[in-house]
Amino acid sequence: MYSAPLIIESKRDGHILSRDEITWLVDSYVKGELPDYQMAAWAMAVYFQGLDAEETAVLTERMLASGTTLQRRPGEPPRVDKHSTGGVGDKVSLILAPLLACCGLHVPMISGRGLGATGGTLDKLEAIPGFRTNLTTGEIRRLLDEVGCVMAAQTDDLVPADKKLYALRDVTGTVPSIPLITASIMSKKLAENLDALVLDVKWGSGALMRSLHRAEQLADALQDVARRIGLPTATIISDQNQPLGRKAGHVVEVEESLAALRGAGPPDLMELTLALGAELLLLVGAARDRTEAAGKLQTHIDSGAALAKFEQMVAAQGGDLARLPPPAPAYEITADCSGYVASIETREIGRAIARLGGGRRTTLDTIDHTVGIEMLVRLGDAVQAGQPLIRVFAHPPECQATRAILQRAIEISDTRPPPRPLLVRRA
Ligand code: URA
Repeated sequence: MYSAPLIIESKRDGHILSRDEITWLVDSYVKGELPDYQMAAWAMAVYFQGLDAEETAVLTERMLASGTTLQRRPGEPPRVDKHSTGGVGDKVSLILAPLLACCGLHVPMISGRGLGATGGTLDKLEAIPGFRTNLTTGEIRRLLDEVGCVMAAQTDDLVPADKKLYALRDVTGTVPSIPLITASIMSKKLAENLDALVLDVKWGSGALMRSLHRAEQLADALQDVARRIGLPTATIISDQNQPLGRKAGHVVEVEESLAALRGAGPPDLMELTLALGAELLLLVGAARDRTEAAGKLQTHIDSGAALAKFEQMVAAQGGDLARLPPPAPAYEITADCSGYVASIETREIGRAIARLGGGRRTTLDTIDHTVGIEMLVRLGDAVQAGQPLIRVFAHPPECQATRAILQRAIEISDTRPPPRPLLVRRA
């Protein structure tokens, strides 16, 4: 029997916790024997003192052991997944899951909802009338066999420790802790019983990690747990100093995903999607090099197979694409001076969408899927005073309140900023 106050004090003072202490803490919390206030104090101690690689791996293992895993059947195709640390306009999952399924892989994407500035895959999919994301583990297994890809919410029996701890972190200022993020992401991915995983760690003004250095630390921590636990994993660090693609919101992101699946996606979105998919094809031995892998993925877009697979997945989960609502009425934010787009406060754009009704303040809020934005400029573009910068899809009167926020989110200066690569590092 351990003492919660002593474990909290030990971490507060920077000591390393033993396997048994971490095990006791997580198990007691999941059973409801350790109250939220003690777990919150411990999470805050971890936020300041960190966990070493071994402690992070043990935390991940215990969180995984708090629930069941997605069972495998003999002879099942390789099972793969992609996880991103979250960003504005990040719709890669909607395009990548059907693409990978077209390559004969099984893709059980257990996804999340948006909270705060970043959008969530489940919310985007629920913009499609009828689309069901609350599936049982049995339904997820069946749809994997029937369709090859499935996109669903975390079930009650998969990693309940993360469900409880993430909700607590979200309201106690302890989300941006590298070891806690690592254990949260990796426990969920390990519960999917994967053969290979690719991680998209985002850095920049719209990301959880504002600096490239922090993103590299997170990528290393994720990669380290994957290595210790034996899950083949590749990591890409990608730039989130502007929204990914052109559109951000729900209906508008489904529209952009459909365009991408028809071969008309914006270049940055396609570059990242193909790069992430290529890593997975390499990890499962389905391609010899990145060029061959990206080429294979592209053929499924060119042939229309990826679009057909997406439509099949939507129908299998009860969705009706023909009834996708139109975006809310549009208005434009224009440049108040001439110059170059020097920086974009991407997080503010995400917050503005949330404020328009596209996000939640609490998990109980309902969201308006029809609001969103379309970026009409990219970083480094030359603009003239009066030129439209952002098209906003919104219902009055909120559009007035967010106009100023969006106007401020784009900085125009006399000098063109140096170009920045989208893909920063492959670990
Ligand atoms: N995504 C997760 O799944 N967990 C975190 O803690 C942060 C981002």
